[in-house]
Amino acid sequence: MTGSRQTQRLSADEAGIAAAAELLRAGRLVALPTETVYGLAADATDDRAVASIYAAKERPSFNPLISHLPDIDAARRQGLFDAPALALAKAFWPGPLTLVVPASSACTVCSLARAGLDSVALRVPSHQVAHAVLQAAGRPIAAPSANRSGRVSPTQADHVFADLDGRIDAVLDAGPTAVGVESSIVACLGGVPRLLRPGGVPRAALEAAIGQALVIVEEGGSAPLAPGLLASHYAPRAAVRLDAEAARPGEAWLGFGPEPNGALPALAFNLSSTGDLTEAAANLFAALRRLDDRGPKTIAVAPIPMHGLGEAINDRLKRAAAPR
Ligand code: TXA
Ligand code: MG
Repeated sequence: MTGSRQTQRLSADEAGIAAAAELLRAGRLVALPTETVYGLAADATDDRAVASIYAAKERPSFNPLISHLPDIDAARRQGLFDAPALALAKAFWPGPLTLVVPASSACTVCSLARAGLDSVALRVPSHQVAHAVLQAAGRPIAAPSANRSGRVSPTQADHVFADLDGRIDAVLDAGPTAVGVESSIVACLGGVPRLLRPGGVPRAALEAAIGQALVIVEEGGSAPLAPGLLASHYAPRAAVRLDAEAARPGEAWLGFGPEPNGALPALAFNLSSTGDLTEAAANLFAALRRLDDRGPKTIAVAPIPMHGLGEAINDRLKRAAAPR
C-alpha cells in the first residue's frame, strides 16, 4: 500500500468537512484534527476500514481503538454508563476524555476496533471541525493518533504528511491542535473507576467530578486487576494451537489461504481464502469469537505470514494461545 494513493489535503471548511465525512462513509482513511492530536480516522463499524488503520500505521499489534462520537447521546447508545461514567461524561464532554465502558447491546463498533473485548472506548471531542465531521459521518469513528507506529503523535497536518503521505486518503488540515497530548482514559467497568492513561484532563479534575480517587493502572503494571475486568486482550476460552498444518480430531479450525487437503472439521472458518492479510485482520476477532462460542476444546490455527498486518495478527494469536 505504501505510496500507492494520493493523499489529499482538505481545508477545514464546509466542502472539506463534507469530503472527509464522505470518504469515511466509504470506508476510507482520513486524518482528522481533534483538540488533542490528529487522529487517523475510519468507520468504526467496518472491520475492513479499521484493519486499514493498522496497516497504514504499521502497528505491530491490534490495540483496541477509541471510537469518537458527536455528542453524549450518541455515545450512550454505544456503551453502558454507570454513575461515575455519567458524571465524568457530563463534566468533561466534549473534551479530552475517553471512557472505557461495557458495550451496549446496540453497540455498532466492530469487533476489530474493540480488539474482541466486551468493552468499548468512547470519546466526544471538543474540536469544532471534528464535531462537524462526526455529525456528518453519522456513525462512530475510530481514530488512534495519526502517526506511524513508534513515532510521536502529530499535532499538525504536516506531521501527518511526514508519516503517512501516500498511505491514507486525506488529511483535514485545521492547523495545530490545542491540547497536544492524548485524552485521559478512564475505565468505568464497575467498582472504582480506573485511570488507564493520564492525558488532557488532569487527574485531580477527574477525581473531583466523581468525588473519589481513581485507581491508577499502568500498562503492564502490577496493579491488582479483577480477572477479566480490565484485560485489554481478548482471550478465547478454548486453547489455541498455532502454526497448525491441519485440525486434529475434535479441534476447530481457523484457516488462512487455500485450505489443506482433506476434510475440514464442521467447526471451521477461513480468515481469508485468498491470503489477504487485511481481510484476515478484519475477520480475526469475530472469527475467534464465533468458533469459541461453539465450545471447542482447542482451536487450531493455520500459519499466518509475518509481513504487513501478519505481524499484528500473529501478536494477537500468540496472546490468545498463551497459557492461562
Ligand atoms: O486524544 C486521543 O485519545 C487520540 C485522539 C485522536 O482522539 N486518540 C488516541 O487513540 O490516542 P489511541 O488508539 O492511540 O489510544 C487508544 C488507547 C489505547 O491505549 C488502548 O489500549 C485504550 O485506548 N483502549 C481502547 N479501548 C479499550 C478497552 N476496551 N479497554 C482498555 N483499553 C482500551
Ligand atoms: Mg497513539
